[in-house]
Amino acid sequence: MAKQRVLSLVQPTGNLHLGNYLGAIRNWVEGQSQYENFFGVADLHAITVPHNPATLASDTYTIAALYLACGTDLEYTNIFVQSHVSAHSELTWLFNCITPLNWLEDMIQFKEKALKQGENVSAGLLDYPVLMASDILLYQADKVPVGEDQKQHLELTRDIAARFNHQFARKKPVLKLPEPLIRAEGARVMSLTDGTRKMSKSDPSEMSRINLLDSPDAIAKKIKRCKTDLVRGLTFDDSERPECHNLLTLYMLLSGKKKEEVATECQDMGWGQFKPLLTETAIASLKPIQEKYQAVMDDKGYLESVLRDGREKAEAIANDTLAKVKAALGYSVPL
Ligand code: TRP
Repeated sequence: MAKQRVLSLVQPTGNLHLGNYLGAIRNWVEGQSQYENFFGVADLHAITVPHNPATLASDTYTIAALYLACGTDLEYTNIFVQSHVSAHSELTWLFNCITPLNWLEDMIQFKEKALKQGENVSAGLLDYPVLMASDILLYQADKVPVGEDQKQHLELTRDIAARFNHQFARKKPVLKLPEPLIRAEGARVMSLTDGTRKMSKSDPSEMSRINLLDSPDAIAKKIKRCKTDLVRGLTFDDSERPECHNLLTLYMLLSGKKKEEVATECQDMGWGQFKPLLTETAIASLKPIQEKYQAVMDDKGYLESVLRDGREKAEAIANDTLAKVKAALGYSVPL
């Protein structure tokens, strides 16, 4: 039986952080051989809000190199850049014309981002989910790993696919409806400055997250200043102590120790003893990723060849779907 296809894209804005890594990337890397994986850098999504042209290309390379540094095996996974495969833009236009405007106006993330931005909200920001639907449907993906914030976009993707199939391909459906890939529980990493909120790259405070590329000094500083409490003795189980739960969880995930082991080890510790331990563990576990990242970035030719291969494989599938969509819509074939 053919492997199921998994597809995911990450925007090249800001670095990946420990929440991304422990919550998603690490699990996915462990299981990658079960699937045929397409991993993309969503550089077209990156310009839905004001962006910096001077760093767009290098930010894109950074994400691609981080995928590699985190353990992507190219035997099972294709890494590609969204803007290198023009079918993404083209399918977005076609889908724009069959997507009801009110579906887009109802998207929670659009409303939040538009509100935050205030003025000069672009049509692209409203259209963001249609581009995301194109990303997914072009590859006939079976599964899409999604966090809570992207669930509504995946629902919309299914609605667009169903509507397209119903209106234009009733006899033989052209588009596959993707399923969410719910991530294994237990790896919800929270902010360092507020243990009740998820670690997020949109948090304005750098102190709230540890980025995968943070230097040992930066890691030490962030952990030193992170929010804690005045209670002595550390525990996972006190709901009044969200920061304590989060920092112990971080230590558990980074050290690879079992929960009971960590609970016993830390039950009598104070923060002054625990923080250096967490710092050391975080620095040591990020070191191999950072070294691999540097090696990839130092070998531009290699990175470019990875992205070229990724594009070729992506394009073959994407162009095939695009051709079917255009045929179903009644387009003539260019001569
Ligand atoms: N919108 C996603 C995010 O910000 C990124 C994304 C773009 C994506 N296209 C995708 C994720 C397709 C999954 C599948 O997290």
